Amino acid sequence: MRPFIAMNAAISIDGKLTTADRDLHGFGGPEDRALMEDLRAEADAVMIGAGTLREEDPPLTIKAVEKVAHRRDAGKPDQPDGVIVSRSLDFPVKGSRFFETPGVRRFVVCGDDAPKDRVEGLKGAAEVIAVSTASGDLDLEQAVAELGERGMRHLLLEGGGSLNFAMIAAGLVDRIHLTICPLVFGGDKAPTAFGGAGFPGASVRPLVLESVRQGASGRLFLSYRAKASARR
Ligand SMILES: NC(=O)c1ccc[n+]([C@@H]2O[C@H](COP(=O)([O-])OP(=O)(O)OC[C@H]3O[C@@H](n4cnc5c(N)ncnc54)[C@H](OP(=O)(O)O)[C@@H]3O)[C@@H](O)[C@H]2O)c1
Repeated sequence: MRPFIAMNAAISIDGKLTTADRDLHGFGGPEDRALMEDLRAEADAVMIGAGTLREEDPPLTIKAVEKVAHRRDAGKPDQPDGVIVSRSLDFPVKGSRFFETPGVRRFVVCGDDAPKDRVEGLKGAAEVIAVSTASGDLDLEQAVAELGERGMRHLLLEGGGSLNFAMIAAGLVDRIHLTICPLVFGGDKAPTAFGGAGFPGASVRPLVLESVRQGASGRLFLSYRAKASARR
């Protein structure tokens, strides 16, 4: 059984993850932070793409002490594991908040064709999981199965748009938490919640709306379930 995989993203009303100049302007208010930390607190691991690592270098941790204490009471490690997905392994390790935050178990998923010197450079910073690239792309199903073998039962996918699309295209997203912020970003080049090549008309992914909540800040907090037919 692969881990359950939830995705979380904050978007403008036009579906953008950032402005065209890659600013997260207006996101990250107290309600967004509380939801993000609740979702991280439920997860065994938080996964992001290398694009998000390069631009934000997020530590992917939980700050709220009561949420950390709740995890400890439940016999879980204080912090969820951190997982990066990258083909190139082209990112700094030394001086990175992600790689240097103490008390977090880290994994980097790459291809079996990854540059050897970069794999070597990750020694002591993260466990490298090299998966098949026989199809031309990273085998994300294998990646998720390998994470499951390391004890992860619940993954939280936190973007960005390229990885979100690759994961849903592989049938590896079970639930989507979407925060719609009352902002318009515009911009053809601003990344959207799901990037990549997109689905041809007949293959679009249908979802089931599970919940809608209106926040005090004018945000809408939505939760969707992927239909069983669209999951692996
Ligand atoms: N608003 C939000 O909730 C939110 C959340 C997350 C991120 N963001 C924003 O989103 C932007 C980043 O999005 P993005 O789409 O550019 O980047 P991304 O999805 O974070 O990362 C893309 C990179 O991840 C690796 N990757 C993704 N899918 C892969 C696959 N199937 N196979 C192999 N490698 C794969 C590749 O790394 P390599 O190039 O190293 O091979 C690829 O270049 C940032 O500006 C970030 O701030 C916003």
